[in-house]
Amino acid sequence: MGNNLIPLRIAGVGYSVPDAVITNDDLTKLYDTSDEWIYTRTGIKERRVVSGEENAVDLGFVAAKNALEKAKMLPEDIDLIIAASSAPPDLYPAIACHIQARLGISTQVPAFDITAACTGLIYALSIAKAYIASGMYKNILLVATDNNSRLVNWEDRSTSILFGDGAGAMVVTASEDGVDDVIAIDIKSDGSIGDLIELSFDGKNCPLVEQYEPKPQGIRMNGKGVYAFVAKILPHYVENLITNAGMKAEDIDYLIPHQANIRIIQAVQERLGYSDDKVVTNIKYYGNTSAASIPLALAESVEKGNVKLGTTAVLCGFGAGMTWGGAIVRLREGIC
Ligand code: ACO
Repeated sequence: MGNNLIPLRIAGVGYSVPDAVITNDDLTKLYDTSDEWIYTRTGIKERRVVSGEENAVDLGFVAAKNALEKAKMLPEDIDLIIAASSAPPDLYPAIACHIQARLGISTQVPAFDITAACTGLIYALSIAKAYIASGMYKNILLVATDNNSRLVNWEDRSTSILFGDGAGAMVVTASEDGVDDVIAIDIKSDGSIGDLIELSFDGKNCPLVEQYEPKPQGIRMNGKGVYAFVAKILPHYVENLITNAGMKAEDIDYLIPHQANIRIIQAVQERLGYSDDKVVTNIKYYGNTSAASIPLALAESVEKGNVKLGTTAVLCGFGAGMTWGGAIVRLREGIC
């Protein structure tokens, strides 16, 4: 970006997961499967799920509060809220509007949701970057949250094993010192292969006109197709992102990827030549939390001390759409 554009600082990150844990062994009560089958193919041992009335808004609200605290900002400092979710509990009001109300943020502050599935946080960050760069907004709250456990078909053992619930949040602001924490960012999509992962919210036509057969409910996924597509494009894509930023893989301290399948993560890791300590993985405990996956992995790994601050990281994600994207970011002291 040109010199007249305002740089962005990542001010705080936060996360939240529900309390209820469902292990692979628990799933054997639902269908014929095993911990061994699931773990060896996906890297997942357990996932968190919402219970009772708890939903993605509740998780997002807690993650947002945590990120604001870390950013040392008050809700009234925020002048834009963007929430990313693969499937919000309400199509309207938006998750961002719910969170605005719960945080008591001014009713004049715009709040909206975006849908880019598991790439949602990267898409939201890219929107925030453009808004901050232009001077249109200064302090933006990004919330990525999903309650996949409400949306999977719990009779389908090939998809329901994969998903979990969670939220991650990020507060970004106009940088005061001229340093931009988003070193590079890129988003992509290919709608022509959208049928690889589908979740229909289709209703019925007006009773006075011809009806049609609605699509089945619940997440439907061509797992092999997704795996083949992502394993083919992602390692090369992340490598190009780094090269196009004028950097080398070794210039970056951490890889923080979308947590969908450990084998896909390992393919990117191998391409970059990273040792295990440079790669953030929490898929074992949370499964695929969709939009929340990247900010959850980021905030938790920093909180646990697995990722040191004063470093850089490459984030990368992919998901329904198909969408994919990546960002190279600076992780300053104090963000978590
Ligand atoms: N337990 C035991 N057996 C199972 C299970 C299970 N949970 N699920 C499927 N099987 C069986 C199948 O019935 C099949 O049996 P068959 O050969 O007798 O027909 C066999 O195991 C192989 O099934 P596949 O579906 O071919 O298994 P595969 O090796 O492809 O692994 C998996 C499936 C793990 C889903 C893999 O394809 C994958 O991880 N794909 C990527 C998924 C992904 O990353 N999605 C991202 C979503 S991102 C978003 O935006 C939502």
